[in-house]
Amino acid sequence: MANRTDKHTSRPLFSTRFGVIAATVGSAVGLGNIWRFPYEAGSNGGGTFLITNILCVLLIGIPVVCAEFMIGRAGRKDICGSMQALAPKNSGAWKAVGFLGVLCALLIIAFYAVVSGWTLEYLFQSATGKIGEIAGANRHAAFEGFTSGWRCVFWTVVIVLLTGGIVYRGVEKGIEKASNLMMPLLFVLLVAMVVNSLLMPGAADGLRFLFYPDFSKLGASTFLSALGQAFFSLSVGLGTLTVYGSYFPSDTRIIKSASIMASLDTMVAVMAGVIIFPAVFSFGMEPAAGPKLIFEVLPDIFSRMTGGTLWSIAFFLLLLMASLTSIISLSEVGIAFCIDHWKWGRKKAVLTVTLYSLVAGILCALSFGPLADMKIFGMTLFDLLDFVTSNFLMPIGGMLISVFAGWIINRQTVRKELSPAPRLAVSAIIFLLRYICPVAIFLVMANNLFHF
Ligand code: TRP
Repeated sequence: MANRTDKHTSRPLFSTRFGVIAATVGSAVGLGNIWRFPYEAGSNGGGTFLITNILCVLLIGIPVVCAEFMIGRAGRKDICGSMQALAPKNSGAWKAVGFLGVLCALLIIAFYAVVSGWTLEYLFQSATGKIGEIAGANRHAAFEGFTSGWRCVFWTVVIVLLTGGIVYRGVEKGIEKASNLMMPLLFVLLVAMVVNSLLMPGAADGLRFLFYPDFSKLGASTFLSALGQAFFSLSVGLGTLTVYGSYFPSDTRIIKSASIMASLDTMVAVMAGVIIFPAVFSFGMEPAAGPKLIFEVLPDIFSRMTGGTLWSIAFFLLLLMASLTSIISLSEVGIAFCIDHWKWGRKKAVLTVTLYSLVAGILCALSFGPLADMKIFGMTLFDLLDFVTSNFLMPIGGMLISVFAGWIINRQTVRKELSPAPRLAVSAIIFLLRYICPVAIFLVMANNLFHF
C-alpha cells in the first residue's frame, strides 16, 4: 500500500494518533535530552535548573510548539510555503523567515550527524566488549583519538545514510514507522536504566542534586540557559514541527498533542538525569563535567558496574535511537522544502538532502582532526555551526514564529486550528504567543550574545 495522503491537498499524513505522538516526541527527544540536559543541569545547580526549565517549557515552549503545529496544518506546506500562504501581506518577507529555518536545519544536521556518529562508535566499543579500554585513565585520550580520526568520519557517513534510507520511505512508511518502533523501545530501555540507577549506593545524593532546588543559586543566567535548553529540546524555532504539523490529520488536537509531546520530552530529560547523577555520585565524579559528561564519564561508570557491558550497549543504543529520530526530523525540513518549493519528487529531494548532509557532515567530522586548524572567526566548523544555530538562527526563528502566530495570521484560523480545546487553554496560548514568548526569547538571545 502507498503512503497515506490528505484527500484535498494530497499532502502525506501520519496515519494514527500514536504515530503523531511517536513522530513528534521522536523529533523532540534526542541528544538534547540525554546528553545536553544532564550537563546543563550539572553546571547550573541541578534542582534549580530543573524547576526553571519546567517553567520555561510550560510558559514558552508549549505555546511555540502549538504555533508551529498550527502554521503547518493550516498551510499544509513546508515552513516557507506555509508562512507564505498564511501571511495576509508581505508574504515574501515571511517566506524568507521560513527560508532561514530551512538553512538552520541544514546547518544543525551537519554537527548533529557527527555527535550521533559518536554514539555509534561507543555502541560499537560496548558491543565488542571494549568499554573498559576507553575508560579510566584512557578515557580522555580515547575520546580525542577517536574524534580526530577517520572512524568518526565513517560513523557520520553511516548515520547520514541510515537517515536517508528511512526518510526515503516516506512520511507514513518511513518516519512514522521508524518512530513507532524506536520510541516505545527507548522508553523501556530508559525505565530499566532508571531502576538500575536507583539501586546504586549514591542514588540519594544524585536525586537530591537533581531535584532539590537551592534558590540562592537562581540567577538570570539559570533562567536563560533553561529557556535555551527548552527550545533545543522541544525542536522549536526552525520549522521542524511546522513540517510535522503539515502531516497531521485534520482531527489531531494541537494543544493536547503539544502538551503530551512536551511532557514526554521533559520526562525523558528528567529520566536521563536520574540515570546519570546517581551513577556520578556513586563513583565520586564531577556533575559539572560539561559536554563530555556522557562520552567520557559514562564509559568509566559502566566499566565499574556489574553487567556494565550490557548497560552500556543499552545506553548507547538508546542514544542512537533518540538521535536518529531527531535527525530524521531535521532532514525532513529540507526535504519538504525541495518538494513544496521546487515541486521535486520525494526521491530527488531525499537524494539531494542526503548528498548535502554527507558533504557537510564529513567536513564537520574532519574539523576535529585534519581540518582542526581551519578556523572561521576563531572557531572550528563544528563549533561555528553549533554557535550560529543555537545563538542566532533558532532564537530568531522562534521569536518570529511566535510573532507570526500571535499577530499576523488571521485570528479565526488560529482559533479553528487550536480547537477543539477548552476556551481558556486557547486564550492562554494566544496570550502567551502575543505577549510573553517574543519578549522572553529576545532576552535569551541577548543573553547569549552579550553574556549579561
Ligand atoms: N530536539 C532534538 C534534541 O533534543 C534536536 C532537534 C531536532 C532540534 N529537531 C530540531 C533542535 C529542531 C532544534 C530545532 O536533540
